[in-house]
Amino acid sequence: MPNSQQREITLRFLAEPTDVNFGGKVHGGSVMKWIDQAAYACAAGWSASYCVTIYVGGIRFYKPVLIGQVVEVRAQLIHTGTTSMHIAVDVFSRDPKASKLVQTTHCIIIFVAVNGEGQPVPVPHWEPKSEKDLQLQQYALRLMDLRKAIEDEMKPFVSR
Ligand SMILES: CC(C)(COP(=O)(O)OP(=O)(O)OC[C@H]1O[C@@H](n2cnc3c(N)ncnc32)[C@H](O)[C@@H]1OP(=O)(O)O)[C@@H](O)C(=O)NCCC(=O)NCCS
Repeated sequence: MPNSQQREITLRFLAEPTDVNFGGKVHGGSVMKWIDQAAYACAAGWSASYCVTIYVGGIRFYKPVLIGQVVEVRAQLIHTGTTSMHIAVDVFSRDPKASKLVQTTHCIIIFVAVNGEGQPVPVPHWEPKSEKDLQLQQYALRLMDLRKAIEDEMKPFVSR
């Protein structure tokens, strides 16, 4: 059964030379991959199911990550729907010789638990208990409303 320990996960590793972009720093695509991986591990841990990304919202790169820095990717479940899990991901980095972490990225990513046929399946409900958790859930719900307006705006440019 899922438990509170599986609600969050932190990945820690070094930014490698293979993560370099054309300017000599870490590629934004590498950061997005780390975000997806951490959020996947968080969602799969919570739901005990295979999960797929359905939405990645508002990724903001505040600062560059440098090759050779220690990277911390923290993923935390902040809302569950019937089949979806909303996960807040924060990326931090630091010089390995220093202790101060600097936040480089924040985003919300949504995963859906799916069965062997790729169909959505229900996930265990998460109930906020602390005031901070309640605020995070309200944040996820407000973003969901804002997203509807963004998707309506994008609709004419999406062919599916
Ligand atoms: C995930 C997938 C099976 C969901 O099927 P669907 O018919 O599109 O979605 P559904 O209407 O069944 O909704 C499933 C959940 O997604 C949520 N959802 C649907 N559209 C959404 C959107 N635009 N943003 C956020 N959540 C969304 C729904 O609210 C629902 O959550 P809930 O059960 O908690 O209310 C399907 O969209 C899919 O396979 N997508 C591709 C996933 C993938 O390959 N990801 C990797 C990227 S390459």
